[in-house]
Amino acid sequence: MLDNPPLTNLQTRDIESLLHPYTPIHQLKSTGTVVMGRGKGVYVYDTQGRGYIEGMSGLWCAGLGFGDEEMIEAAIEQMRTLPYYHIFGAKSSEPAIELAEKLKEIAPVPISKVFFTSSGSEANDTQVKLAWYMNNAMGRPNKKKIISRIKAYHGVTVMAASLTGLPSNHNGWDLPVDRVLHTDCPHHYRFGIEGESEAEFTARMAKSLRDLIEREGPDTIAAMIAEPVMGAGGVVIPPKGYYEAIQAVLAEHDIMLIADEVITGFGRTGNWWGSQTLNMRPKTISAAKQLTSAYAPLGAVMVPEDVYQAYVDHSATLGTFAHGFTYGGHPLSCALGVKAIEIYQRRDIIGHVRRLMPVFERRMKKIGEHPLVGEARYCGLVGAAELVADKASKRSFDPRNGVGPKASKLIEENGAILRALGDTIAICPPMIISEAELNELFDRFETGLDQAEAWVSTGALRAA
Ligand SMILES: Cc1ncc(COP(=O)(O)O)c(C=O)c1O
Repeated sequence: MLDNPPLTNLQTRDIESLLHPYTPIHQLKSTGTVVMGRGKGVYVYDTQGRGYIEGMSGLWCAGLGFGDEEMIEAAIEQMRTLPYYHIFGAKSSEPAIELAEKLKEIAPVPISKVFFTSSGSEANDTQVKLAWYMNNAMGRPNKKKIISRIKAYHGVTVMAASLTGLPSNHNGWDLPVDRVLHTDCPHHYRFGIEGESEAEFTARMAKSLRDLIEREGPDTIAAMIAEPVMGAGGVVIPPKGYYEAIQAVLAEHDIMLIADEVITGFGRTGNWWGSQTLNMRPKTISAAKQLTSAYAPLGAVMVPEDVYQAYVDHSATLGTFAHGFTYGGHPLSCALGVKAIEIYQRRDIIGHVRRLMPVFERRMKKIGEHPLVGEARYCGLVGAAELVADKASKRSFDPRNGVGPKASKLIEENGAILRALGDTIAICPPMIISEAELNELFDRFETGLDQAEAWVSTGALRAA
């Protein structure tokens, strides 16, 4: 097989005109892009006619898969009725109202108001601004820092990227900005000390958080933001008891917890919210992605009544609540959000996820036995395989060898799209996937891993 076949016309036009996110753009001229043409169910097809199982739901978002007729109908109907309106300056529209009501109904903690954005990054950016606004309203002008975690992913706007705890989002971008603190990543496999139990590790995480808070001064810290399961940082599932321990420390110091449910919301972990699966009790919540099953862009920030009342007080002092996005509460997106939630409920998508979870678990455990895989981790229908040079010592490959990207390329050549997060291969299939399709996805995953193993062995890439 040719490594780099000649580029098609579309691929050439693509490279001439698009700046691609999260892509080694210096290599694009030789590798080209995969131009997707259409999608149906869990499958997507590129413009050269090749089909793939979309094992990542796009970017962890297309929970209902592709081409759902009910979603399409809802979009057409809303476009005909009111294709755009805003909710600034005391205007509103029915889809925004209805979706806000729905979100209040299904929220994992009491929620009073919903603020709409167009993306997860904007939701998290808004969370920070709202925390500052609230503390100004409450006469606590110094309580402004936000704690995040190493390996967290919260998006790419200036503040969301600062909250993100990944070097590639900071190096070269003049980030993070100040007022952002990063505490430890709760990944026992990678950051546990030799012989340390999960319980001891969790206690160390809590102590480290406490030390950070006491060093900085609790009266300078507004909030901590956390994904229930860390996604882009490698699908990190904290040990049992982690959130209970963390939350006790936060409560002691009057620091509110923000749950970033952008990936974990709407059934992904086997409950409506990752907070429920992981025993988190957040004060406020960010949502996006599966909120509309990615049929249109939408993010949301959900806040309780006491927090909302602080905004009301501050609005009274300042004259208005001066924050909002042109497309926040877009009627098309909100109509699709309402329809997606209705479908999740009517078709019992969460029940379906739960029925598939034992299959997912069995297949992930088998992936964990593969010679390339150091740890296979999973929660609901999201998981990852961390590829290592040496299983016993957990030694990683030299990142310059690009073992993860090579493995995901080989998996793709077998007709399955998964995502390399460095040398960790993530899997997050559409929640509507059937058992047979899920098994087929794992078969292709395994074949790709076998080929990656052969490539690693041939190239002697395990050398220390
Ligand atoms: C947990 C989490 N938060 C926030 C974001 C940012 O969302 P967006 O890309 O819609 O800005 C993402 C995106 O992957 C995410 O995974």
